[in-house]
Formats: sequence, structure tokens, C-alpha cells
Amino acid sequence: MPGSAPAASNPEAVLPVIPTALVEVDVVERWGEGIPAAVPVADIDGEPDLETAAGNLGVDTATLRALDVSGKAGEVRAVPLSEGRLGWAVGIGDGEPFRWRTAGGELARAIRARIGDSGGEGADPRDLGEALDVEYVQFRLPSGVTPELVSALTLGVALGEYHFRVSARPTPPRVRKVLLVAQPGEDVTRLRETARRAREWASATSVARDLANAPSNVKSPAWLADTAAAMTGSVTGLNATVRDEKWLAGQGFGGVLAVGGGSSRPPRLLELTWQGSGNADSGIRHVVLVGKGITFDTGGISLKPAEGMEMMRTDMAGGGAVIGAMLAIARLELPARVTALVPMAENHVSGSAYRPGDVVRHYDGTTTEVANTDAEGRMVMADALGYAVRNHEPDLIVDVATLTGAMKVALGLRTGGVFSSDEKLGERVRDAGRRAGENWWPMPLSEDHATDVRGTTADVKQAAQGPGALMAALFLREFTGELPWAHLDIAGPARADKPYDEVVAGATGFAARTLVEFVAGLGD
Ligand code: BES
Ligand code: MN
Ligand code: ZN
Repeated sequence: MPGSAPAASNPEAVLPVIPTALVEVDVVERWGEGIPAAVPVADIDGEPDLETAAGNLGVDTATLRALDVSGKAGEVRAVPLSEGRLGWAVGIGDGEPFRWRTAGGELARAIRARIGDSGGEGADPRDLGEALDVEYVQFRLPSGVTPELVSALTLGVALGEYHFRVSARPTPPRVRKVLLVAQPGEDVTRLRETARRAREWASATSVARDLANAPSNVKSPAWLADTAAAMTGSVTGLNATVRDEKWLAGQGFGGVLAVGGGSSRPPRLLELTWQGSGNADSGIRHVVLVGKGITFDTGGISLKPAEGMEMMRTDMAGGGAVIGAMLAIARLELPARVTALVPMAENHVSGSAYRPGDVVRHYDGTTTEVANTDAEGRMVMADALGYAVRNHEPDLIVDVATLTGAMKVALGLRTGGVFSSDEKLGERVRDAGRRAGENWWPMPLSEDHATDVRGTTADVKQAAQGPGALMAALFLREFTGELPWAHLDIAGPARADKPYDEVVAGATGFAARTLVEFVAGLGD
């Protein structure tokens, strides 16, 4: 069951209802006099435009000057307004669209700090008082506002105050809706549609965060599959099928069964299908999205070091991104045919765990020589890719996985790696990321390492020597049937250790909205 399932090993703890609530964002025409207000402050060549900001807030420029308002992107200053109303001056720097994502994120955190969480972690919200019961905050849009700007601001405002806490205490109060107030003469209908789409991107990201943040004592493969399936229940045209371990055994998913074999909690395969409108000859193509769904990665017999292992509860972040994206794709009624496959397993240590040296037979019949049980992601992905090729006849495949520590070393924590068998496809993914506000960088499928994945006792080697992220990608390529395929390694950006822009510490939901925008752009 989704929602307040108690953790078996800690009956006091209660999960937030999943999906957690997101701040609503809408574009309106009227500035409300009695509502808490935020206004942007531009920084023009080192000079903040205090006059415009002060005019919008109804205060003197001297007030803003005294508060040291600089207009630097992401700077948020609380400004007391008349009758004790809350106000904020929000720096947008040079006003480039991505600055608005930064500004929105910082504003959202400032609002939450002021309203809901002022006592800090663990504070009793009942002590916060009635004055903090704020339902709306309005934000003054500048004149000549672009859709890119509204989109970036919406992402920042909606995601920047995301919060996941497992607790039996009541949730602190928070703002329910942010009203973006357009200047007279703007195309409000168009801006509202832009905000709605960005809000769906944010909701895809938020669902991906929820699933990845869920602790693994709750998050078994069965819980993850059933929770995702329950979420799709309310979305028209989005269908879910959950396959259990018996079905997987009957079908020959050797990689999923090998990895899942060490856990007392059996593996699952989640299949989601979206059949967008549009007729067969409109050129609409069939896309398969595959996401890694390891609900916890101990490393197995090739055990991981203890330090930092707790973050391996997010090792299904790729699967979470795919699930979040499918919900948004269906809600936006995108005209594409999309199938999502998320193989789910817990990589654990026990007498039934798979071993280094084992030979495993995958769904498509290919055999793999296991070298390291910690390279479990590619084992489950190989089955799902083979299943996609054989059973779904896709036109193209995109997979997403927290696959290698090497990817994290190569690109750091804020950029995802894109490997692709097809130049154009890789470019499309990166362009979608640019529009959706996520950073990607192209990685090579170096042919000089391609022969290194050939096996000796089996067809392929699971963890051959060589550059880690590339070797994993080259292994996966063996299962893609030479179809156009992109592999997204998100081991770095799937988690954050501190807040920045629209991101908060913990799971980031990275890749979810890139996938939505990628599918949206397929017709172009
Ligand atoms: N889930 C990890 C990759 C990972 C590492 C994600 C750090 C996020 C942060 C993956 O299953 C793994 O353990 N990969 C191994 C592969 C190696 C044994 C060939 C790695 O990268 O060390
Ligand atoms: Mn691993
Ligand atoms: Zn893993």
C-alpha cells in the first residue's frame, strides 16, 4: 500500500503519503493587496534595480538598501510589509532563464523556513502559532516575461521546498499555492499553460524523489512495484502490470533472479504502458524506457564498504525517474507510444546470494560471466533490455540507471552521462535536458574497449577491466539488438548532499523531466 505504511522494524515511523504534496503554481492577472508578496530584483552590471522592486513591494528603496539587497541570483531577503505582511526581495542576477530556477528554489526554501519549519528539524509545529498559517504567496513577474522564464521559476518554486520526512509527528504548515502575477497585456493563457507543463515536470521529479527517498526497510521490490502501480491507477490510459518472481523464473530473467536471490524479499518487474492518441501512420514511434530498480545495493558477496552505504537506498533512482516520467507523460497526454520497464531487486548477502564466478543466462539467452556481485545494475538491466527488444519491438530505447561510481568521478554530482548508439538520439536527450533544466554530457561508446566485454567461459564479461562507466555501457549495448539506444548513467546527480537551485539534499529525481520532455519532443 502506498502512503502511511509503517516501517516493520520501526513501528513509530510513518512514511509521508506518497506522492507527497507539491506546492501549486498558477499564473494570474491581479496583484492582491493583502497577500504575502515576493518580487524579483535584477542586478544590472553590479547595480541592483531597487526602485522597481521597492515600487512593487510598496516600500521605500531605503528599506531595501538597509537590508543589503544586491540582486545577486538566489539571494532572498525577507522584507517586512505593512500590517505585518510577509515580503521577500528575490535576486535574479542578469535574469537569464536558469537564474529563475535558482531564484525560485531559494525563495521556496525561504518561505518554508519562515512559515513551516522555523523551529528547525524536530520542532513541534504546534508551537508555531496562527500567524504562520499562510495559504498563498504572490510573485510579481517582470514585463516581457518569456515561457522559459515562467517554466524555470515554476520548477524552482515547486521543487525547492520539497521535503521528505519519516515521522509520526504532524506535518508543519506550508504555503499551498504560489501565484505568478503577470503584468497587464501579457498572454496569460499561454503563460498558464507553460506553468502547468512545468508543474507536471516538477511532479515527475517529485515522485522520483519520493520513491528514491523511501527507506529500504519499507521499500522492498514488491512495495516499490505495488506503490508505483497504485499511483498509475488514477491516471486514465496508463496501465501497470507487476510481474512476480515466479513469472520472472518462467520467462528466464536470469539476471534479475541472480541479483534478487540473496534477499528474503523477491524481485519484481514493473511494466507501464501509455498509448498516446494519434493514428498508426502519423509517424508516432514506440519508445521503451528502462530504469534500474535496485531497492538496496549492499554490493552482495562483493560487499560494499560501510561508509555511505545508507545512500544505496536510492539505487532505484533510475526506475523512480522512469515511473515519475510515465505519470507526467500520461497526464500531459503526450502523443507517443511509451512502454516503461523497471526490473526491481534487492542486492543482498546471504546463503542464496549469487557469487563471483557464476554464469548467468539472461532473458535473450546471452550468458554472462559474473566477476563482481556489486555490478548488479547491469545484470538486471540486461534482462529488461533483452525483453524490450524481443517483446515490445520498440523503435528506440532509453535506459536510466545509477550504474557506476566511475560516472560520478567523471562528471561530478550535477551532470548526467549520455551514451548513445545513435548520435541524433543522444543529442535529442541532451536538448530535452536543456529545456527541462537538467545538465547532461555526452560520453563515448569507445570501440577500442568493445572486445573487452567478450567472455571466456560465457558470451560476455560482466565487469571487465577498463574505464568503469564505459565498460558498463558497452556491456548493456550487447542486449540492445542494435536498435537506436541511449544509456543515461545518473550515479552522480541522482543524489545531492546539500540544497542548490531547485534541488534539496537527498534524492534529486534527476532525469525524470528530461524523459518527459524527450518524449514530448519526439514528434519534432
Ligand atoms: N549502485 C552502484 C553505483 C553507484 C555508486 C551509484 C556510487 C551511486 C553512487 C553500482 O551498482 C555499483 O556498485 N557499481 C560498481 C561496479 C563495479 C563493481 C564494476 C562501481 O561502480 O563501483
Ligand atoms: Mn552495486
Ligand atoms: Zn547498484
